Order: sequence, then structure tokens, then C-alpha cells
Amino acid sequence: MRVYRLFRPWLFRQDPETIHQGVMGLLALAAGGRPRLELLSAVFGVRDERLKVRLWGLEFPNPIGLAAGFDKNALAVAAWPALGFGYVEIGSVTALAQPGNPKPRLFRLPQDQAIINRMGFNNDGAEVIAARLERQGRPSVPLGVNLGKSRVTPLEEAPADYLKSLGLLWPYGDYFVINVSSPNTPGLRQLQDKDRLEELLAAVMGFARAQPQTKPVLIKIAPDLTWEQLDEILGLVEGYGLSGLIATNTTVARDGLKTPVDEAGGLSGRPLAARSLEVLKYLTQELKVGIPVISVGGIFSAEDALERLRAGASLVQLYTGLVYEGPFLGWLIAQGIRAHLHRTGLTHVADLVGQDV
Ligand code: FNR
Repeated sequence: MRVYRLFRPWLFRQDPETIHQGVMGLLALAAGGRPRLELLSAVFGVRDERLKVRLWGLEFPNPIGLAAGFDKNALAVAAWPALGFGYVEIGSVTALAQPGNPKPRLFRLPQDQAIINRMGFNNDGAEVIAARLERQGRPSVPLGVNLGKSRVTPLEEAPADYLKSLGLLWPYGDYFVINVSSPNTPGLRQLQDKDRLEELLAAVMGFARAQPQTKPVLIKIAPDLTWEQLDEILGLVEGYGLSGLIATNTTVARDGLKTPVDEAGGLSGRPLAARSLEVLKYLTQELKVGIPVISVGGIFSAEDALERLRAGASLVQLYTGLVYEGPFLGWLIAQGIRAHLHRTGLTHVADLVGQDV
């Protein structure tokens, strides 16, 4: 967006976390003015039969979602559809409120169009966020709730920690994500190991099955897993009947960066795109029962999103692209996909699967 490009040099001279808080403050304010927002949603909300995705009994007006981490505390859920998003994922939420890691913990790498973060699941905790969602009422698009482990909870007690959050938030989410892939909570990614994951999924799926209303439960995985580790996870996902996977979280790899950088944390944005696409292709090829995959990592344009949809992603998500391309990126991508469908004579976004460029 041209206007955003004009502002960007000034924005990028400010502290990244201050800007993020400012943006969330504005959006939360906008989300409070519901009638006006609904008007904006009618104008900017992208609603076109060809873009609709029906999945897990839910209707997504378009396949572009807000990735976890941007609206961790569900402060502006109603504002995102007005920016063109077809669904929103809040979190990661933990059972206990926690401040996250010491600042600075968020770094832009403009030369690489990337971000490194080690936020460490700073959030208000499941109880406060559940109350906030109760007050706000249902958003106009599907709402995903992404859950992480509280930092102080030992790994052995992780299942109970996730269950506490699930119990509090179950009435409010349309789908739930078990995040075992953030690099910034010590030990969290060990929950991707077969035995620990099996225990966690048994607990979570036991809970989900016991609820009067069944809801989809997904797992979000790291891009740094080996093919063998991915195979093990796929076996468990199929065995425990999860509804989908989100691939991928941020990476701990630093390959090919132009910026000389020595900060710990997860890398997102353009440098993650190739690996995220590679993992998506592997998953869609290996999943025997056609379990849906949400693709995230380095999506900055309609072309990027089309590539993921062609490779078999059911939905996509954005985070770092918004920082570099501006808040209307979701809207722009949805419009780009619509224009592509029109040009190629395809009647529906699902027809993209398997299409050559
Ligand atoms: C994230 N991401 C993230 N993911 C998650 O499951 N829970 C979280 O709390 C967060 N927090 C978070 C904070 C920040 C500052 C960033 C940049 C990212 C990961 C995010 O959802 C996504 O998976 C990756 O960023 C890759 O997508 P992009 O950013 O390349 O589009």
C-alpha cells in the first residue's frame, strides 16, 4: 500500500513493541465502535462466494487469517474482519497471566523483511481473556483460540495447564490450536517429542470429545522439525483424530540473513517462506486422510497466498507481512485472489489445489 510505504520509514524508527501497542490500542478503540465497524466490514470485509471456505462446519468468508501473536489478548477481535480478514486467531493464551520475557524482545530486520521475537507468551491469562470474549460477543468471522503452556508449569504438568485454558475458553472459540512450537518458552518444543505429545493429545482430545459441542482442535508445529519428527507427529495427529495442522511457527534457524544479527528468538517473515512452503508440501503429500493444513510463514502477497493454496493449504495466515506491507494486506491479498480466479475462470478458491502456475 502506497500510503503505508510513506509512513513506514518513520514507523521503523520507533521501538517495535511501542508501535505494536499503539496499533492494538487504535484497533481496540475501533473494535469498541461496533456499528461503525460493521459498516466498515460491509465495505472492506471481503465477501465473495468464490472465496468462501467451508471447513469443520464453519464458514470462512475468505481464506486469509490473522496469525497468532498479533492480537494475543483478544483486544480487537471485531476490528480484523473490517481489515479484510476471513478469520482471526487470538493467543497464544496461557492458563496463568504472565509478563513474558524482559524487553527488548522484538526486533525488525528490514533488509530481510523479517522479525525476530522472543516475547515469551506475554498475555492476560485464560480467565481474563475468556471474560473479555464473553463481553465482546461473537465476531462476524470464525475465531481461533491458540493455547500455550504457562512458563512456570513444568513440562510434566503441561497437559493440565492446557486443559485449564481449554476449559475456560471452550465456549468462545470456533477452533482451538495446541501450540507446541514457540521457541521462547523453555522446553515448550519438547512437547513435540512423541511421548510427551501423545500424553498431551490424549488429554486434550479426551476433553474435546467429552464436550456437548464438538469443535476442531489443531496443532501448530515448528519449521525446524526433521522429516522423521514430522512423520511421528502426523501419526499422532491421525491417531488422535485432530482436525488439522498449522504450519509453521517461527524458526530458530538464521540461514541466509543479510542482517548481521545475534538476537535469540523466533525468526518470521520472508526468510521463513521457503521452509514453510516445503513443510506444507510434505504434510499435504503425507497426510493419508486429507487433514486440512493452515499455512503460515512469509506470506506477503496474493502470489504467495496462491502458491500455498495451490500446494493444498485450506487456509493461510499472516503476521510479519502486515508489518512490512501495512494493515490492509489481508484485504489486498483477498482481492488479488479474487482477481486471479476471475482471470483464470475458476469458480472457487478450492479449485486452485494442484493448479500449475
Ligand atoms: C508470533 N507467532 C506466534 N505464534 C503462536 O502460535 N503464538 C504466539 O503467541 C505467537 N507470537 C508471535 C509474536 C510475534 C511478534 C511474531 C512475529 C510471531 C508466530 C506467528 O503466528 C507465525 O506463525 C509466524 O510469525 C510466521 O508467519 P509470518 O510472520 O512469517 O507471516
